Amino acid sequence: MCGIVGYIGAREAQPILINCLKRLEYRGYDSCGIALLGETAEVHKDAIRIEALERSLQPNDSQAGIGHTRWATHGKPSGINAHPHTDCSGTIAVVHNGVIENFLQLREQLTSEGHTFRSETDTEVIPHLIEKYYKGDLEPAVLKALADIAGSYAFIAIRAGCDELVVARKDSPLIIGIGDKEYLVASDVPAVLDYTDRVIYLEDGDLATITQGTFKLTSNGKQIERTVHRVPWTMEEAQKAGYEHFMLKEIHEQPRAIQNTFAGYISALEPEIDLGIRKDIDFDNISIMACGTSYHAALVGKHAINKLVQIPVNVDMASEFNYSDTILGKSLVIVVTQSGETADSLKALKKAKELGCYTLVITNVVGSSATRIADDILYIKAGPEISVAATKSFVAQLIMLYLVALAHSAIDTRSRGSLLTELRQLPNRLYEILDREEEIAGHGKYLAGYDNIFFVARGINYPIALEGALKLKEISYIHAEGYAAGELKHGPFALLTLDTPVVAIAAKDNTYETLLANIKEMKARESPVIAIAEEGDAEIEQYVDFVVRVPKVDPLFSPVVNVTALQLLAYYTAKERGCPIDTPRNLAKSVTVE
Ligand code: F6R
Repeated sequence: MCGIVGYIGAREAQPILINCLKRLEYRGYDSCGIALLGETAEVHKDAIRIEALERSLQPNDSQAGIGHTRWATHGKPSGINAHPHTDCSGTIAVVHNGVIENFLQLREQLTSEGHTFRSETDTEVIPHLIEKYYKGDLEPAVLKALADIAGSYAFIAIRAGCDELVVARKDSPLIIGIGDKEYLVASDVPAVLDYTDRVIYLEDGDLATITQGTFKLTSNGKQIERTVHRVPWTMEEAQKAGYEHFMLKEIHEQPRAIQNTFAGYISALEPEIDLGIRKDIDFDNISIMACGTSYHAALVGKHAINKLVQIPVNVDMASEFNYSDTILGKSLVIVVTQSGETADSLKALKKAKELGCYTLVITNVVGSSATRIADDILYIKAGPEISVAATKSFVAQLIMLYLVALAHSAIDTRSRGSLLTELRQLPNRLYEILDREEEIAGHGKYLAGYDNIFFVARGINYPIALEGALKLKEISYIHAEGYAAGELKHGPFALLTLDTPVVAIAAKDNTYETLLANIKEMKARESPVIAIAEEGDAEIEQYVDFVVRVPKVDPLFSPVVNVTALQLLAYYTAKERGCPIDTPRNLAKSVTVE
């Protein structure tokens, strides 16, 4: 996830900006840059590490500037795409986090008005818009630019000749650190902690104009004041934003992650999806390959595509496909990989290409090996995932697969419109589950006392049972198995006892009644049963020992809410057992061997 920093005060800005950027390194980045305020906006940026940028810099006595670590989402990691971005004359410089959804229209408009763009980024429209509206005062120009922008942003703008930083926020975090006769701006608290522990958290709609000794804050045009908070965290605590583990932080980031995934692909007004991938590919079936958690996302994707597109879909574990005689035919091959570096998935991608298939990769990492092999790319834009156990990347993969299904669907505009409305609501539904964290933590404590646990479901949630079991085993070291609920009686029933709890996902779809029958069979074998069930489902309570409630959503999207509950369940079970949650034994974030 990109990081932004800004400084204005009585000291040299350059070393402070570099230090602040280093404090954001943990978020992951592929390029970085700074701009120093002077007679021009002096920009230094490249696709290099911060230390390399630092070594390349000459001393500079400017007392104000901005900086950025970029984690590419629009355009590959490169010096040109790195921030800060400037206007035509190079006097205005901007660093930005977020997604400008209408950047293509704005870019077209500005180009027709004579502006020249250098990068592939969405951000570059911001300095050009400010340039367009600048009439001698930076703040009003920024305000006018904001009125043209749709999307999310946290940004800092500077202009040579104006001794000020103008910062604005909407749907992307931004704080102002208050030091001694100096101000620091950053996307995250750790960036400023070496200089101050007094911060203001900006809210959506806030705009601040900051000079060396003054600071004016407005919200939607009205001057306001916001509370100054003292941050009680150490640097490490701050990097985890106060969460005990990155995994928990990343689960909490899921609503934002999936908003980023669909932003830019779904039109704000029409029920339309434009994925920006080739539309003229001739295929009569889809073959998806992936590993681990990504494989589970692929299995959900199969259900969604089958339902909405009615085309044969085959899902293979990449490691199995590589040594199989699977016949692909006229297939569109989709490889799902968070890292874009998993050896088995890369091998499958290459094999599919060699067999003459059109290949599409769904990944989180811009410029990863998979993106250099595949014919087309869809980025899930979940932001860097630091915990070894995949969480937010999984839900973002689900959203992307739903978008693929919806984009190719034959359903009527109205049905597509209502599914898109539901999809847009999913972040709010996830917040509702996160509000129940304490209750889920209690169930986690309970499960921590067992050595073997089954996860069962049917239909589109069967892959979520697999994922729930995978999450639990990898971080808590409890033996867990995901099973199709109807399969338990074909063997695993022999294992069901009082000491073998079952977590059953009871989605209210066409599988519900049969699943209830399966639960009764399990209870007859004395297994304690925890159900994941939607609000308002009173019936389930009479058959199970505990119910974890999830919000009601369209059954097609129920995997997103159900898996969030299971991720929390796994997290709290592992926590109760004192496991090293972010770095489980024997596992690596990216598996680069076969
Ligand atoms: C489990 C997990 C792994 C990965 C798998 C594939 O939490 O993260 O199972 O999903 O190693 O990795 P990617 O998606 O990077 O190809």
